[in-house]
Amino acid sequence: MTTSPRRYHITTFGCQMNKADSERMAGILEDMGFEWSEDPNDANVILYNTCTIRDNAEHKVYSHLGRQAKRKQEQPDLTLILAGCVAQQEGEALLRRVPELDLVMGPQHANRLKDLLEQVLEGDRVVATEPVHIMEDITKPRRDSTVTAWVNVIYGCNERCTYCVVPNVRGVEQSRTPEAIRAEMAELGRQGYKEVTLLGQNIDAYGRDLPGVTPEGRHKHTLTDLLYYVSDVPGIDRIRFATSHPRYFTERLIKACAELPKVCEHFHIPFQSGDNEVLKAMGRGYTQEKYRRIIDTIRDYMPDASITADAIVGFPGETEAQFENTLKLVADIGFDQLNTAAYSPRPGTPAALWENQLSEEEKVDRLQRLNHLVGIKAAERSQRYFDRIEEVLVEDRNPKDPTQVMGRTRGNRLTFFSSDIAQLKGQLVQVKITEVRPFSLSGEIVEVRHPVTV
Ligand code: SAH
Ligand code: SF4
Ligand code: F3S
Repeated sequence: MTTSPRRYHITTFGCQMNKADSERMAGILEDMGFEWSEDPNDANVILYNTCTIRDNAEHKVYSHLGRQAKRKQEQPDLTLILAGCVAQQEGEALLRRVPELDLVMGPQHANRLKDLLEQVLEGDRVVATEPVHIMEDITKPRRDSTVTAWVNVIYGCNERCTYCVVPNVRGVEQSRTPEAIRAEMAELGRQGYKEVTLLGQNIDAYGRDLPGVTPEGRHKHTLTDLLYYVSDVPGIDRIRFATSHPRYFTERLIKACAELPKVCEHFHIPFQSGDNEVLKAMGRGYTQEKYRRIIDTIRDYMPDASITADAIVGFPGETEAQFENTLKLVADIGFDQLNTAAYSPRPGTPAALWENQLSEEEKVDRLQRLNHLVGIKAAERSQRYFDRIEEVLVEDRNPKDPTQVMGRTRGNRLTFFSSDIAQLKGQLVQVKITEVRPFSLSGEIVEVRHPVTV
């Protein structure tokens, strides 16, 4: 057993799913009596919650891990844990590669950290990567924010996009019940949280694995039904959800978002490519025309809605003309923000084995051209906020200027203004926008508004 003081450190890589898992694992460690340490060098349990979506994400993990493995040679009572997607992908092989590692645990095992760590503290080296039914959360997460919170609604992904490791590392879709989701949100509301983001890799798949069909033959529990079901949780003023898949996105969902006052007018719908041939090779299951129709329908119902997405450039075989179709889609739609990436071949995915890979130079060149356009379009989109009064939920102090606070508009634009965080944290305020930048805004407070009540 380690001796006191028992301090833990977690570094999280990757997506919101990993961040949510880290918060639950931190909650478990605190329940076990560990205290948070900002500096990994002061901790006796170090957990890396890892991402393997692209090659560079995976490499980052190994460089962090290498440093602590060295430290362990002088301090043998240090416990080193590798959790998350790299752990799932590499499994047992990691124990051989890094002899200092004590525990390798896949994302499906996050809620089992206490059991696993107890085995380690008894002297075992442990690997937990077998597929399991995810246990309902039995512990309270230690959340990073006191204003906004993530709530998982569906784990895993049943899609088979030809470039993507997620289905391999996150397993099959497992939806939580609407009752469990609502109960978690109600508890958040009681604790003073104001905004909830419902999470799933493919959130439109929510409920497909739950029992029950409607008389019209639909699944009884869809994302749309879930939004109606949780839309009146007391205390929660804003509801967001991510990530949406164009293949399953419905007009019913759009209607619900337009109707429900707490659901924010922000849609994160990755399109990945603007070219139908490339979309087909990716196995995405929609055309660029269908994607455009979805955005048109959203804008019919909610003309001011924010649209964000992810896109990949340099997919195997992508020609210059096909890449230009992506540029064209980006120019036509005008995204508020776009996460872009150069295609990275991943182990265990079909596209990694294809022979028509592009050169790094070509991929980097396309990425730069796309990013340039993204900046221009985002700046154009920001213009519409100028001189407008926006509702902002105050989250924190501006880390770069303590005289300012920061929050987000309903459309998810980061907004800064001068004020005192002690007074405004967690409040919805009206802010007049006086300055716009491509991805953020600045303004002046007009009034503090009382939250939506139901
Ligand atoms: N479930 C979401 C995205 C999950 S991964 C969806 O279906 O859209 C987040 C983003 O990483 C993806 O949208 C994609 O743009 C990017 N990505 C995934 N695999 C990649 C790879 N092999 N190379 C480059 N980018 C990748
Ligand atoms: Fe990956 Fe596709 Fe699943 Fe998204 S939908 S997580 S891109 S396999
Ligand atoms: Fe990365 Fe795993 Fe998320 S691979 S993007 S942390 S699901």
